Amino acid sequence: MKDLDLSKGGANHQKPKGDDDVMTTAQGAPVADDQNWLKAGPRGPSLLEDHIAREKIFHFDHERIPERVVHARGYGVHGTFELTDPIPELTCASALAGEKGKKTPVFVRFSTVAGNKGSPDLARDVRGFAVKFYTDEGNWDLVGNNIPVFFIQDAIKFPDLIHAAKPAPDRGFPQAQTAHDNFWDFISLSPEAMHMVMWIMSDRAIPRSFRFMEGFGVHTFRFVNAEGKATFVKFHWKPKQGMQSVIWNEALKINGADPDFHRRDMWAAIDAGDYPQWELGVQVFDEEFAENFEFDVLDATKIIPEEQVPVRIIGTMTLDANVENFFAETEQVAFCTQNIVPGIDFTEDPLLQGRNFSYLDTQLKRLGGPNFTHIPINSPKCPVRHFQQDGHMAMQNPKGRANYEPNSWGEGTGEDRGPRGCPMRGFTSASVAVEGAKIRERSETFADHYSQARQFYISQTPVEQTHMANALTFELSKVGRMDIRKRVIGHLRNIDEGLAGKVCEAIGLPEMPEAIKPAREPITDLPESPALSILKN
Ligand code: HEM
Repeated sequence: MKDLDLSKGGANHQKPKGDDDVMTTAQGAPVADDQNWLKAGPRGPSLLEDHIAREKIFHFDHERIPERVVHARGYGVHGTFELTDPIPELTCASALAGEKGKKTPVFVRFSTVAGNKGSPDLARDVRGFAVKFYTDEGNWDLVGNNIPVFFIQDAIKFPDLIHAAKPAPDRGFPQAQTAHDNFWDFISLSPEAMHMVMWIMSDRAIPRSFRFMEGFGVHTFRFVNAEGKATFVKFHWKPKQGMQSVIWNEALKINGADPDFHRRDMWAAIDAGDYPQWELGVQVFDEEFAENFEFDVLDATKIIPEEQVPVRIIGTMTLDANVENFFAETEQVAFCTQNIVPGIDFTEDPLLQGRNFSYLDTQLKRLGGPNFTHIPINSPKCPVRHFQQDGHMAMQNPKGRANYEPNSWGEGTGEDRGPRGCPMRGFTSASVAVEGAKIRERSETFADHYSQARQFYISQTPVEQTHMANALTFELSKVGRMDIRKRVIGHLRNIDEGLAGKVCEAIGLPEMPEAIKPAREPITDLPESPALSILKN
């Protein structure tokens, strides 16, 4: 240490070792000293003329971009998806229909939903599980969660849900947890949320680490095979590490001691070569099953129990590389449900349809313009050819003369005519018959809000059920307004009288509130589904 020269603001210590590490400005001009602002005399005022200092400060001033409106706190890692059981009979998606053993690079971002970028990892919350497959026929994003259902059935309610879950606008708290009046007010006025409420009050909402949780595509999607035949599909990620959660008491302590617990766990595991793996599974079913199923397969508040449609494992994802730069990769990655490839298609799920608009729209602002697919983490790893051009930060403008079609440039003119759509290889939507009058109404087939909530609850072990009752008690005891507490208990009565009674007593209500009148009578004899319990797995 004795040869360190810390005079001149440290500039004398910062000597390059050779030509390769000479510092330059953003314009590439070599810099002599970036630790001392140019001054009129050593104690004189700083000169505006100092282009080196101004460039450095200017860039620093603009380092922040808006955090994501939801899922702001996330952690990204690289890996590979390996196809173990190709399914060309179901889909022509190259990553799923290719040779056994085919590998596709992936980037995964795990996240919490409600908290801001600096919030603690162990919040009781849904975890995002977004996977970008860089397939050889374009990027396919499976933008899922660690819970297979969602709070709402129609995307138009999403801004209200998120406003209610995030800090209240007047006081700016609570942060990163759901225990407050606004959230429970909204939830108790939206019976469709009851199934999801059971999941977030369960141990699933406080995973021990990202490595020990399942992932779900949530919506029903479509597979389309080479003959154009469509099948319904739901996607599942099954952790090879098994499933594990912490208990609430542990979560609170971990949050206090190390708010970065989940991201540190992922970094450390990958750094140590202990690569986490998930199996990709699909539940595949046809129109006939969909018509006979007790619930609407387009309703994102419902699952299809694995006991009814088994999950077929088709591949393994291994996460084996941490990012080189958190901002460039984890912050700038842009997942979007509308990023699909030939062989995969949407359904008419009204939540999915709204998501398809929302992601691209928000990313236009978050990433500063329409060219964020030029950022390396978002760029496909296959050729990209189109006539889109210009805009902020354009880096892949069309080359040559042709930037439109139809055009008659080409052989003989000395000019490249550019790309053309290809009916044989290109994306074609599944042929689905559509009819109906324009109408702003919820389908009758979406009206049962309690049956699967009950099925989830009865599928938990007694220990897990106790955790759920404790979670509801903790959350509702933070709700100031008694009428909101009562409304929630009124819903719980439609799910399980025993649970409603326990929570009612624990939060000190003098008598059981009346049950909320359901829009449709629940089915009370749905069988247990052991796959829904962590402890039975
Ligand atoms: C972000 C999942 C519903 C709007 C995300 C992310 C995930 C996710 C995992 C984080 C992506 C990342 O890591 O960068 C889901 C799931 C949903 C759902 C599974 C329901 C099944 C919705 C709905 C909307 C919506 C209904 C709006 C109508 C957004 C927005 C972002 C986001 C705006 C921020 C995207 C960004 O800034 O890059 N969602 N979401 N989500 N989601 Fe959703």
